Amino acid sequence: MKTLKIGIFGAGRGADIAANFQLLGCEITAICDFHEERRKNAVKRLGEGITEYADFDSFIEHDMDAVVLANFFHEHAPYAIRCMEKGIHVYSECISNGTMAEGVELIRAAEKYPDVVYMLAENYPQMIFNREMHRIAKSGVLGKILYAEGEYNHPGDPNDINFKRTYTYFTKHWRNYIPRTYYITHSLGPVMRATGATPKTVTAFASFAPVEGDVPNASQCGDRAAVIMTQNDDGSIFRITGCAAFGGHHNAYRVCGTEGQIENLRGMGAKIMLRYNGWSKPEGENEVQMYDPAWNDPDEEKIVKSGHGGSDYLTCRVFLESIRDGRQPEHPYNVYAAVAMSSTAILAHRSMLENGKPYEIPDFTKEEWKKQYENDRAIPYYLTDGTPPDIPCCSHPDYKPTEQQMKRYLELFGE
Ligand SMILES: NC(=O)c1ccc[n+]([C@@H]2O[C@H](COP(=O)([O-])OP(=O)(O)OC[C@H]3O[C@@H](n4cnc5c(N)ncnc54)[C@H](O)[C@@H]3O)[C@@H](O)[C@H]2O)c1
Repeated sequence: MKTLKIGIFGAGRGADIAANFQLLGCEITAICDFHEERRKNAVKRLGEGITEYADFDSFIEHDMDAVVLANFFHEHAPYAIRCMEKGIHVYSECISNGTMAEGVELIRAAEKYPDVVYMLAENYPQMIFNREMHRIAKSGVLGKILYAEGEYNHPGDPNDINFKRTYTYFTKHWRNYIPRTYYITHSLGPVMRATGATPKTVTAFASFAPVEGDVPNASQCGDRAAVIMTQNDDGSIFRITGCAAFGGHHNAYRVCGTEGQIENLRGMGAKIMLRYNGWSKPEGENEVQMYDPAWNDPDEEKIVKSGHGGSDYLTCRVFLESIRDGRQPEHPYNVYAAVAMSSTAILAHRSMLENGKPYEIPDFTKEEWKKQYENDRAIPYYLTDGTPPDIPCCSHPDYKPTEQQMKRYLELFGE
């Protein structure tokens, strides 16, 4: 395959992804970010010779085969569509769309430009334990899959100024407005891949426990976690979080079938526990097995050096394989799975605001579903053009950080 020219839109996370595409032999040819310092830092890290842009309209004219969308979390879809219109392949950070209407627009664009590869850059399914759960579930030894759990649980120290400086550096930043259900792909993506299922109905509840004390805080969401349940297209059930913040930090997954179950053990690295019942275990196997899974991959040396437990490298590789083979990526990386994940996040939040009311996840291959949602632009975030949110981000819609917390935040970071 010829050397692919890749452009990076968003110089924070975008620079991490760019480094992985370099490891895979691609050329990073252009980078776009209107935040000059972040852009310069990325170029310093990635090497000279990368053309810099501050605005997307000029950047999109650069000669590129593919673009990495790592701009603000809730604003990926319009830029993905602009790339598709120009025949540029898209590697979109999670989530794929910030509103239901954008989900419709993204699917319509993907249907109009089928030769452009669109991939959701969701990396957690490629973590070593999630690859193992996928391998075991697909082998059939667990029987029919009935239930799976996905927890992306990322509590943060409220006094960690460096984290806030890097990740929530202005008051209207999306991380200060994110509802607990929205950062869903790290919990949902791995179980969708392991089981092959897609959510059909969703319901959710949140746990409200605002940050206390004299700490810098501008978050408008006082919820610590949301627990989301889905009934899926194959009859199975998921119990997942968006981004939760309870107990000890972990990424934990579990897949249960009629004959057995597999999970990674919380707080024990990549350790896997595979269990059967005495009457259902495969011949010659133990009822309970605990082990560290192996990569079994020719690129292991590069994988172990890459971010997020090697999953960043592997996810970039999935994208390049799709381009090489001239096909869309598999479930759950393709546009339909990506939009189903975003719909689950958005409608779980509505469910949570309405005391757990169930919502049906639309199937945007069907015109009647497209019509129902094509004008649904409700969003809990500020947009880059200054448009304010029109729905609350918290289960207690009147919640605000304390005056003292806001004062401390403004002293450190300004508006
Ligand atoms: N998969 C993972 O493990 C992982 C990890 C971190 C972040 N992410 C995702 O990556 C994306 C980016 O994350 P981040 O932490 O870098 O976010 P961020 O908000 O810190 O950075 C976004 C960058 O995009 C730039 N930007 C936004 N809109 C722009 C525009 N219109 N023109 C020019 N520049 C623009 C901003 O200046 C900023 O530098 C998010 O969607 C996030 O969810 C994924």
